[in-house]
Amino acid sequence: MDNHGQNIQQHSKRCRLVLFPLPFQGHINPMIQLANILHHKGFDITIILVKYNCPNLSQYPHFTIRIIPDGLTESEVSTIEVALIPKLNARCVGPFHDSLAQLLSDDPIACIITDAIWYFTQEVADNLKIPRIVLRTSSVSSFLAYAALPLLQDKGYLSMKDSEMDEPVVEFPPLKVKDIPRFGTDDPEAAHQFLAEVVEGTKKASGLIFNTFKELEEPELAKLGEQFLKPTFAIGPFHKYFSASSSSLWTQDRTSISWLDKQAPKSVIYVSFGSIAEMDEEKLNEVAWGLTNSQQPFLWVFRSGLVQGSKCLEILPKEFWEATSKRGYIVKWAPQQDVLSHPAIGGFLTHSGWNSTLESICEGVPMICSYFFGDQMVNSRYVNDIWRVGIKLEKGLERFDIEIAVRKLMIGKEGENIRRNILSLKEKLNLSLKPDGSSYQSLDNLVDFISSFGPPV
Ligand code: UDX
Repeated sequence: MDNHGQNIQQHSKRCRLVLFPLPFQGHINPMIQLANILHHKGFDITIILVKYNCPNLSQYPHFTIRIIPDGLTESEVSTIEVALIPKLNARCVGPFHDSLAQLLSDDPIACIITDAIWYFTQEVADNLKIPRIVLRTSSVSSFLAYAALPLLQDKGYLSMKDSEMDEPVVEFPPLKVKDIPRFGTDDPEAAHQFLAEVVEGTKKASGLIFNTFKELEEPELAKLGEQFLKPTFAIGPFHKYFSASSSSLWTQDRTSISWLDKQAPKSVIYVSFGSIAEMDEEKLNEVAWGLTNSQQPFLWVFRSGLVQGSKCLEILPKEFWEATSKRGYIVKWAPQQDVLSHPAIGGFLTHSGWNSTLESICEGVPMICSYFFGDQMVNSRYVNDIWRVGIKLEKGLERFDIEIAVRKLMIGKEGENIRRNILSLKEKLNLSLKPDGSSYQSLDNLVDFISSFGPPV
């Protein structure tokens, strides 16, 4: 357990809750953190996991764990892809229903809390007459963008020409046409259908939990309330209570911290594109040369699978190694929260995954953003235009733009302003977690809401 867990006031209710995380790192982390938070509040927690991407169970002696089959084939299991999500939704219906029915016959269940992306679970919950609360692990703004996709399609935004990508989406400021969520799939219709299911499933839920805080997304939370008409709890950021390390799917290389210990304060740019993003060799070279040309020290997470069809670092040219051997350090997977809180870190080149964005705000580390798909497109626009806590690479990962952005952020005047903005946001975030703060109170409201489903065990 993280020390921060001690900040949570204990309640003495003993209701059983069943949580069901989506099996991807960016979804597992917040759900396990939520499980720890609610356990600390006095609830009995059962977690249903699928076999795919199952985290290390030895970390959870305080939870009851049930593992269900995922129905994935061997070749599907060897990939980490967004395309697996509809398959998982189709193939887990029976096993999830049976597992939940079995749990229900053993003990009463106050409610289930499932990832929003598990859209099939609403029907199962209705069948078994159990209330379902949805955890949406990303920002409220990106979720509203998902919900607005049918409207944006009707207005013709999704069929606009390449030359119109920088046009504003007037119905959804501050988005530009190029920021409308896409998934890099050959079948955008199927992706839209899938998101429509997610939005519909969320509308039918009894309540919504978001890993965000009111001061960050106040207007968006108000819009959400108008559109979804459900009790909503913005109780984040979860990792301030419990760190993500206990649910890491890969070993976090702590030599990154000893390397950082030897670097000057605020001198290092941290580079990570999360757990799913993939790039081709051309983009990889752009990142490598952008970092090299910036002349700044960097710590780079080069995850297996980051480059399509390749697993090894040797893919980087010899000239890159020669130029950066003294100021670059590369690991396969890092203890990201510890990295971001290290005094040597001065900036974060990120794909704008929501966990990474929140973790960076929490540590007051300004960002350089280049999205890959989905919610990241909205997050990066907000980082640049609304919160002004980072620089969005408008043309994506291009070496010259990376070099300029790193310099601007780490040594320029613009960087100072951005740093000031993110430190002020960090302060608001810390206040939101204090006893009269918004997230703290929202968490108390969530506890009361769940307890109202009873029954106490
Ligand atoms: C995915 C989506 O891409 C993201 O947009 C969505 O918001 C959640 O699901 P992912 O791409 O993995 O997540 O990104 P992110 O949300 O940033 O989550 C990554 C998590 O892995 C973070 O909690 C981060 O701390 C952790 N991490 C990352 C590590 O522990 N070590 C690393 O080296 C890199």
